[in-house]
Amino acid sequence: MCGIVAYLGEKEAQPLLLEGLRRLEYRGYDSSGMAVLNGGGLHVLKKVGRIQALAAAAEITPLHGSLGISHTRWATHGEPSDRNAHPHVDATGKLALVHNGVIENYASLKKRLITEGHTFTSDTDTEVLAHLIGDHFQKLPANTPSRLERAVMAALREVQGTYGIAVIHQDEPGVLVGARRGSPLVLGIGVGEHFLASDVSAVVAYTQKAVYLNDYDIVTIDRNGFRVSSLTKQSAGFEISAIDFHQADADKGEFPHYMLKEIFEQPQAIQNAIRGRLSHEDSTAVLGGLNMDAKELRGIDRILVTACGTALHAGIVGEHLIESIAQIPVETDFASEFRYRNCPIDRRTLVFVVSQSGETADTLGALREARRKGFRVLGICNNVGSTIARESDGGVYMHAGPEIGVAATKSFTSQVTIFALLALLFGRMRYLSASQGREIIENIEKLPTLIGQVLSQSERIKAIANKYAKSSSMLYFGRLYQYGVALEGALKMKEITYIHAEGYPAAELKHGIIALIDKNTPSVFICPQDSVHDKNMSTIQEIKARKGPIIALATEGDTSVEAIADDVIWLPKAVDYIMPVISSIPLQLLSYYTAVALNRDVDKPRNLAKSVTVE
Ligand code: AGP
Ligand code: GLU
Repeated sequence: MCGIVAYLGEKEAQPLLLEGLRRLEYRGYDSSGMAVLNGGGLHVLKKVGRIQALAAAAEITPLHGSLGISHTRWATHGEPSDRNAHPHVDATGKLALVHNGVIENYASLKKRLITEGHTFTSDTDTEVLAHLIGDHFQKLPANTPSRLERAVMAALREVQGTYGIAVIHQDEPGVLVGARRGSPLVLGIGVGEHFLASDVSAVVAYTQKAVYLNDYDIVTIDRNGFRVSSLTKQSAGFEISAIDFHQADADKGEFPHYMLKEIFEQPQAIQNAIRGRLSHEDSTAVLGGLNMDAKELRGIDRILVTACGTALHAGIVGEHLIESIAQIPVETDFASEFRYRNCPIDRRTLVFVVSQSGETADTLGALREARRKGFRVLGICNNVGSTIARESDGGVYMHAGPEIGVAATKSFTSQVTIFALLALLFGRMRYLSASQGREIIENIEKLPTLIGQVLSQSERIKAIANKYAKSSSMLYFGRLYQYGVALEGALKMKEITYIHAEGYPAAELKHGIIALIDKNTPSVFICPQDSVHDKNMSTIQEIKARKGPIIALATEGDTSVEAIADDVIWLPKAVDYIMPVISSIPLQLLSYYTAVALNRDVDKPRNLAKSVTVE
């Protein structure tokens, strides 16, 4: 959940660690800290609050040295405080450790260590790990080769749960050890220097070469280089990968927030999602990464999509796309539910996991459970080299570029676009003629331009956001293709403005939700000219009859909606199956401008973290 950055090289570690932490702050931001080793020993600095608090403290008491570890925390065990912030040290005060994840058996380990004389100063699970490794280190003779690495290995064998860690020890001053299980850790290889980080955005300014570590890998870095060993295997292989983006892609540019930048990047992101994947000649989609031949694809008779949060909402839109275009039954499920329920899936079922980060613990758990049962699992991921991408049997990369804003935006529209490509591919293998396929391609290709048209209304949307920003609750309604969009619109509003918001299939209004309608509760109604337009109009009437304000998303020129809604955001004319990609964008802007009006921290909303790598 958190962010780890560690450095071993020739430069001063502190500025590099702080810069790396700033890049990772979106992963967790309740407290941060760093530890640096130099001839004088181990120095630790920790601060509750944002990275800025740590940077300010470091200005007063700088930590000098060229080996250091650092961390930005998203608390699981123990409140955010200076004391609970990482790094944590062992009983001797010579070992420092940062940790991402949860040590599930920390309570029993802690009890044992206390009976052995250890004293703990924090409420975290992590401190137990620091003591445990320190204990093993102390028990090994001083001249043991690779003493820290061995101590880490011995301790991790006793640990249940998930971890990405970086460890240093004063008695082995030129060594940095990292390990992972369930939480991401990447080795960045620079010239005369190495980094460990939770994701490559922390190191991309210094190197384009990385090793994505696997579960149970232990990496030991010293002044001569690095080696990767494994907790479970005799020898561990590794692959050096090229990082697929540059520093500039992860900068805010002229935008005040990453979220706004990412909303405006959507024409490009969608272009990237479809580039090279539409064949005019065969009137179909070309998705080589699925690693399945035509016969295998043809044999699929059911699809299961599992994911969390926004990615699941994209799956819900995907369900409509695949069912109506390809006529394959699709089921969607929360990854957190799927991984523990006994879902009957037969051999002809294909499982899709969807994840921007490719690191979400619940989604990864679902993937592993499906694979354990022998199913073919495909991933739809943005982060190249992420754990989900690597553990899937194949999949489709989004190529949306780094998404730093905690609220997902361009990843949603990319995922929906990819589902449209899948629907086309499966459809062409079944019921669609070449001319129908061609028509779908032409519509998908219009997306970047149509998105541009919606974005040009941002000032209008801002005015509407200002008008309703004081609401304490908002309802979102949509049907069929727009139901997933309503869910996503409400999630965006909740996440970054803290206004209570819920999304519903519109006709559910009368089954209970209608009790919430009053003059202070706006309803955001996604009502394009589609097959359920008339039905939606009746529902809007029901809301208006109870004095509920309506913010409508309607197709350009739709005077029937204009006549009844309080405010209208216009959608360009488009066929129903591409409309979700377009209609979700005004909802992103609506929540963005509402958050700005309320002076919220848009890119780092309270209690949230970008990538949820704990259960
Ligand atoms: C989206 O705005 C949220 N921050 C969250 O729901 C997110 O979509 C979810 O945690 C899944 O993340 P993933 O796509 O990286 O797996
Ligand atoms: N479980 C640890 C803690 O609460 C690590 C949390 C994190 O990943 O930031 O400190």
